[in-house]
Amino acid sequence: MVEETLVLIKPDGVARSLTGEILRRIEAKGYSLVDIRMVQPERDILAAHYAEHEGKPFYEPLVEFMLSGPIVAIRVAGDRVIEGFRMLSGTTDPTLAAPGTIRGDFGRDWGLKVQQNLVHGSDSPESAARELALWFA
Ligand code: TYD
Ligand code: MG
Repeated sequence: MVEETLVLIKPDGVARSLTGEILRRIEAKGYSLVDIRMVQPERDILAAHYAEHEGKPFYEPLVEFMLSGPIVAIRVAGDRVIEGFRMLSGTTDPTLAAPGTIRGDFGRDWGLKVQQNLVHGSDSPESAARELALWFA
């Protein structure tokens, strides 16, 4: 079943010049890049994107971090790509993410208030539809 997902390369990924490496991994897996744009988002799009986390202790630092530099937004298509990109990405905490994943290979704990974990990937078909509409309006 062909799906689409939203991938974001977060400000740390862009700043560390990992954009090409992350795109390469998505393409090497066999997924298609359908659309791509570099954005310096406004706070309102991030508030909508992370609405589920509002009120959590990491929410404010997360939004500040996401506003700290340009982001690359990508519409990615493929069979089971929503789950598949989450596997490429690795688990949220980059110290614990498996080697071989994007977060596991390039992320680590920087002792900051928020996980700087390089990428975002939608976590369900409902999230993907909502997030793609937000970032590719
Ligand atoms: P979440 O949606 O739980 O993780 P994922 O990105 O793996 O889907 O959380 C969104 C982001 O919030 C996460 O990528 C990094 C940040 N975050 C923290 O900084 N600390 C935390 O304890 C959690 C759960 C998330
Ligand atoms: Mg999430």
